[in-house]
Parts: sequence; structure tokens; C-alpha cells
Amino acid sequence: MIWGAFSTLFIGLCHYIVPRLCGVRLAGAMWSRALLLIWNANLLLAVVLMALGWNRGWEAGELPLVNVLVLFLVLIAFTAQCLVTIGRRREAPLYVSLWYLIAALVWTDANLVLLILGPDHVPGINNAAWHGLFLHYVVGLWITPAGYVLIYYFLPASLRNPIYSHKLSLIGFWSLAFFYPFVGLHHYLYSPIADWAETIAIVSSMMLIVPVWTVLQNFFGTMVGRWHEVGPNLPAKFLITGAILYLVGCTQGSLEALRSLQEPTHFTDFVIAHSHITVFGTFILWALAGALYVWPRVSGAPLWSFRLGNWGFWLVTLGIASMSLVLAAQGLQQGFMLMAGVAWIDSINAMRPYWWLRTLTGLAMDVGVSLLVLTMVKGR
Ligand code: HEM
Repeated sequence: MIWGAFSTLFIGLCHYIVPRLCGVRLAGAMWSRALLLIWNANLLLAVVLMALGWNRGWEAGELPLVNVLVLFLVLIAFTAQCLVTIGRRREAPLYVSLWYLIAALVWTDANLVLLILGPDHVPGINNAAWHGLFLHYVVGLWITPAGYVLIYYFLPASLRNPIYSHKLSLIGFWSLAFFYPFVGLHHYLYSPIADWAETIAIVSSMMLIVPVWTVLQNFFGTMVGRWHEVGPNLPAKFLITGAILYLVGCTQGSLEALRSLQEPTHFTDFVIAHSHITVFGTFILWALAGALYVWPRVSGAPLWSFRLGNWGFWLVTLGIASMSLVLAAQGLQQGFMLMAGVAWIDSINAMRPYWWLRTLTGLAMDVGVSLLVLTMVKGR
């Protein structure tokens, strides 16, 4: 979901956003087609290799080394394209989306070095600490700023309303940059990693409320006077739904960083509820919004059917919202069962009905996304 769906959509959408915000063509645009082919062939190869058992064993860093190296090189090339374009821009202001774009690309190029070296070269408990750092950089310094690039561009564009507050964007940006790097160890609470380091991660996780609430205030502020336009506006609908789910997911995140909630939930699907509601519920929804906004404009044909797109919206939204509820509920139940001393296998058996629900909600999301793709491609 992170490297295949979100990142691919994000890089594609940047090809639309960056030239518009800079007032010049994308630098090295002639490389883009080759980069697209290499990026997708690499992902395909990664899927095949992983199915054959090649896996580096790091969550969000499972890809085989050869695929990580290709991903890294493509991202470096794309970073160069974007930075040169921004350097040559004709628009004097550096728009908020562009701050986040620079940050996301530069941070992630550096973070991929952690992924290249980490799994095989760092022994013992430090391997877990590196992984926590890497994983949360993927989440907080790639997906999050990259997602902000999209919503800061597409929300004002789809509603034709300026962003609510420039000052809030500044607070959001710098507090993200300041607090995110410290939170990685909240993935390894109660581990042999030093307690004081875990506590710093917990405190920083609480402080993340600052960037989260400031950006959300900016998004909801941008909606003022425009709520009545959301119904027939598919991109805006996806964006604002993603923002609501962001509030839910991040509130859950800050709470589960507390030792008292982490104790019952860590090894359960409660965490998976959180990762799905944030990565899919927020960032994939924002990327889909961008695709729905850009597709008719670049293909020259309107969406084939609003009705179908709207069905897609509701299936995706209800699917992810109820999947997250189901996963959170089953996680809490299983966690407290284990703490009460129930045998592990019995706690697993108790989860069976929930997993059926998870399958159904997942199917709703699959069908929903397929309807969206259909309504885009049939429009041509
Ligand atoms: C205020 C913001 C957030 C806080 C405080 C937070 C906190 C946490 C905590 C404490 C965990 C570990 C739970 C455990 O292992 O028991 C976690 C896991 C995770 N979070 Fe967040 N989170 C936040 C936002 C996000 C966002 C925005 C994303 C996605 C872009 C995200 C994606 C994930 C993922 C993928 C995991 C890993 C789940 C796993 O281990 O399987 N989080 N988060």
C-alpha cells in the first residue's frame, strides 16, 4: 500500500502539481517515462520475489535489497527533477505544498539509506531501534508530508477557496519536522531498549497532536462556506473524509503510544486498525482525490459516471471505517483475553467472526476502488 499504491499515485500527481506551482515545465521531463517504467517494473518484480520468499523482515521494509536499491535510485532522480524545477520556478512564493514536497523527498532519500543498511548490518536490539526509526520516518517523513502536498494543493483547488491560514501551515510544518524524528521507539515499548528513550518517544507522540491539529484546523477552515459544494464534488469529498479519518487515526495513535494502552493492544489487530485508518483511510483517500481531480483534466474527458464514482466513494469510506472499528474491537478483546491468561490459540479462535467481517469490509474497499478506476478509464 505504501510503496505500490500511495507512492506511485503521489509521484504521478506531482507531475501535475509541481509545474503548476512553479510556472515552468518539470525539469528532465523526458526521463519521466523511463522512470515510470522502471518504478513499476521494480514493484512487480518485488511482488514476485516476495511471493518466492525473499523478504528482509522489516515491517514496511520487506522489499528485497535489489528492489530497495532501484526504488532509491528512482527517488533520487525524481528528487533532482523536483528540486531543479523549484530552483527554476517563475512563481515567487514557495507554496506550502512545495515545502512539504522538498521535505518528503529529501528526508526519504536519507531514510532509504537506513533501509539499505539496517536489516543486515545492525545487530541485536539496535536493529529494532533502527527499524523503529525507519518505520516512523516512512510514516511521518514520507507518507505524511507527501499526503500534505496533495491535500494542500487539491483541497483549495477543488473548492476554489484559498487555504485558511498561512501561519498555521508554518506551525504544522515545523512541528512535524521537530517532533516526528523522536517517535520511532513507540513501536518498541516494553522492549530491552532504554526506558528513558521509550519515554521520549511517548512524549513526542503526544506532542504530535500539535502538527495534526494545526493542519486539520487549516483543512476544516478552508471548508468554511463551502460545505454545501461537497456532495457532487468527488475529490473534495474524498479529501475531507480522509481528514476526518486522520483525526480519528492520529488520536488513536497518540493514545496507543501510552504504556497503559500499549500493554493490552501491542500484539493485536488494534494496531492494524490504526495503520489501516491512517495509511488507507487518510492517505490513499487523498491520493484517490488527486487522481479524480487530475484525470479528467489531463485526459480531456469528464468522469464516465458520477453515480458510479459516488458508489465507489461510499463503498471505500464505509469499508475502511467499519474495518477499522472491527479491528480495534477485536484487538481490545484479544488483548484483554491474553492479559487474563487465556491460551493464545483460544484468543485466536475467538477472532474468527471478526475476520469474516474484515474480509467483507476489505471486499467493499476493493469493489469501491475498482468502480473509481472504471469511471476514470471509461470516461476517455
Ligand atoms: C499523532 C500521530 C500518530 C501517533 C501518535 C501514532 C502512534 C503510533 C503507535 C504508538 C504505534 C505503535 C503501536 C504498537 O506497536 O503497539 C503506531 C503504529 C503505526 N502507525 Fe501510527 N501514529 C500516528 C500517526 C500515524 C500516521 C499518520 C500513519 C500513516 C501515515 C501511521 C501509521 C502507522 C503504522 C503503519 C504503524 C505500524 C503498525 C504495525 O506495527 O503493524 N501512524 N503508531
